[in-house]
Amino acid sequence: MDASSWDAALDAWRPPAPPESAPAREAALQTALTDDADATGSPSFDRARRALTDGAAVLDVGCGAGRASVALAADAPGAALVGVDPSAALLEAFAARARGASVPVRTVLGSWPEAAARTPSADVVVCHHVLYYAASLVPFARALTDRARRRVVVEIPWEHPHAWMRPLRAALGEPDRPDPPTAPGAARVLRGLGLRVRIQEWTDDADPWCGRAGALARHVGDRLGSTDTDRVRALLDEYGLPPRGRRMATLWWPPP
Ligand SMILES: C[S@@+](CC[C@H](N)C(=O)[O-])C[C@H]1O[C@@H](n2cnc3c(N)ncnc32)[C@H](O)[C@@H]1O
Repeated sequence: MDASSWDAALDAWRPPAPPESAPAREAALQTALTDDADATGSPSFDRARRALTDGAAVLDVGCGAGRASVALAADAPGAALVGVDPSAALLEAFAARARGASVPVRTVLGSWPEAAARTPSADVVVCHHVLYYAASLVPFARALTDRARRRVVVEIPWEHPHAWMRPLRAALGEPDRPDPPTAPGAARVLRGLGLRVRIQEWTDDADPWCGRAGALARHVGDRLGSTDTDRVRALLDEYGLPPRGRRMATLWWPPP
């Protein structure tokens, strides 16, 4: 797969424009999920931790509420953290979490890669669950690489995170979509740029939606362009979705 095919597959899977209420709901949901999450010991955590020395700088692109990086930076004495995100509410939650873990923190409000020019370099750059939201893979990944002194670590689902919603789309009468973009497809594109990208497949057995059926139905409804939350919830029950044991990918590479 080449870069333009990967971007075209990504475009085909882009959700409709969200309702006005969605960003505040998403920020609250991301923060609550991060409160419950324990990312320490995941393959992505380990790949980043191995490249991190005491006093290092960590950059988290699309930091959300800090799931990928606060525990990581807190694990390396003296490490400092910068987070980039277009959501001011999430940057606030991120900074509060870092301060609570006694990690020095800075934030950059904006979207990647546009915000890269205003973002300092770091020893380790992490970017988890953001790549499928990029406008275009290559400029996004190039800017991550440009900002890394030792390693970039990217975590994403093995295939586009909305791929499991296919049966729901069919039930709602939507036409099927082409094959979704995947993590190994992204790795191939990035290797084509000369980057020494490695990839590890693993299974995330955690249930990220535990106890949040209402929030899940609204979140999925936003992705499907449906405001009929009861119908979405009924379909999720009917199809036993989302599937448990998410297939995940950790990609990592050094700067050239
Ligand atoms: C699914 S959340 C993941 C948050 C966090 N990295 C984690 O692993 O929990 C996706 C995050 O990416 C942010 N985001 C989306 N598009 C982005 C972009 N182009 N540049 C930077 N952040 C982006 C969103 O605001 C959101 O905080």
